[in-house]
Amino acid sequence: MRYNVGGRKTVNLKTVHPPIKKEFQDKKMGSDRSNLTQFKKHFDIINQELYKVFDSRVPLVEEIGKHTLLGHGKRLRPLMFVLTCELCNYHGKDVYRLSTIFEYIHTASLLHDDVLDNAEIRRNRPSANQVWGNHAAILEGDFLLTKSISIALRTNNLPFMTKLADTTLRMTEGQIQELAHTDDWDISRDLHMEIITAKTAILISAACACGAIISGAEAETGESLEQFGLKAGIAFQLIDDLLDYTSSEEVFGKPVGKDLKEGKITLPLIYTLSQLETAERKRLEDLFLNHRRTDDDYRDIIDLVRRNGALDRIREEARIYVTDAISCLDMFPDSATKRDLTTLSQHIIDRKY
Ligand code: FPP
Ligand code: MG
Repeated sequence: MRYNVGGRKTVNLKTVHPPIKKEFQDKKMGSDRSNLTQFKKHFDIINQELYKVFDSRVPLVEEIGKHTLLGHGKRLRPLMFVLTCELCNYHGKDVYRLSTIFEYIHTASLLHDDVLDNAEIRRNRPSANQVWGNHAAILEGDFLLTKSISIALRTNNLPFMTKLADTTLRMTEGQIQELAHTDDWDISRDLHMEIITAKTAILISAACACGAIISGAEAETGESLEQFGLKAGIAFQLIDDLLDYTSSEEVFGKPVGKDLKEGKITLPLIYTLSQLETAERKRLEDLFLNHRRTDDDYRDIIDLVRRNGALDRIREEARIYVTDAISCLDMFPDSATKRDLTTLSQHIIDRKY
């Protein structure tokens, strides 16, 4: 399709919106949120704020942005920021606007990630790279990332901005590390944990740490919240890796078995491989690395992982991370907000998508 961008230049874009299949239609924050309905008030304001970003001169920015931000995004990161602000008794009128920083960074990283992975589905809808092509998806990610910087600058709070800069650097390092270990069947658990910490947990941790920073909380409080987010974030990615082997596309919002197809050797497979006889392990590795694999081979590996016990072990590890996360809140007296953060972190291990 030829698309008129801002009335100045005409570019070729991959396609117009394909009709969105029924199963992809917005589940938004509704489904699988039975235990998160208590946060509806927050989600509503966060969503209102998220859409304010689209004051761009260029209509396509809004079109891609709305498509990407819609779908069933969990809004976990902005909610964690809002709740940690509340926990630190910060009630400034900028809380919700600032919370969008974490969803914009997250969404920008997913736009880029989907280009890297050549993904087809994101948040239960065709991914932006599939609809508009890689160039537009990358640029939309740049727009959202820059928007987050511009919102953060208005705080005039150097520690807040430093935390964001450090965070996006670590995320990028994690992503590069993951790229460097694509198809690495010898990847260790430790290295894998380092990667998931950087690519996922660091941003969740930053959302919590920034709640303390903007509140002017003591350093010790900030450190506890940062650790809370870090441990909850690691649990989040462990469950993400697990759902990739156990879920269904309709529920998960992206295809299952995607990690394996992308050459990502995640913890379910790392644990399973560690229990195979050397010859069997070598046979599978050769099959995959020689790119002779068929859909049946993928199915076999997924079945192997499902039968192996690795998934129970990972769910248990995630549970321990969440318990540790919750214990980081010990320094705070009991309050409704503290209970909200506890509920939210428990949701991480119970979630279906
Ligand atoms: C999804 O993981 C991807 C991430 C959590 C982080 C992506 C980070 C970058 C592209 C670098 C930083 C970029 C910016 C703009 C700050 P996944 O591939 O395991 O999950 P998926 O299955 O949902 O794709
Ligand atoms: Mg990906």
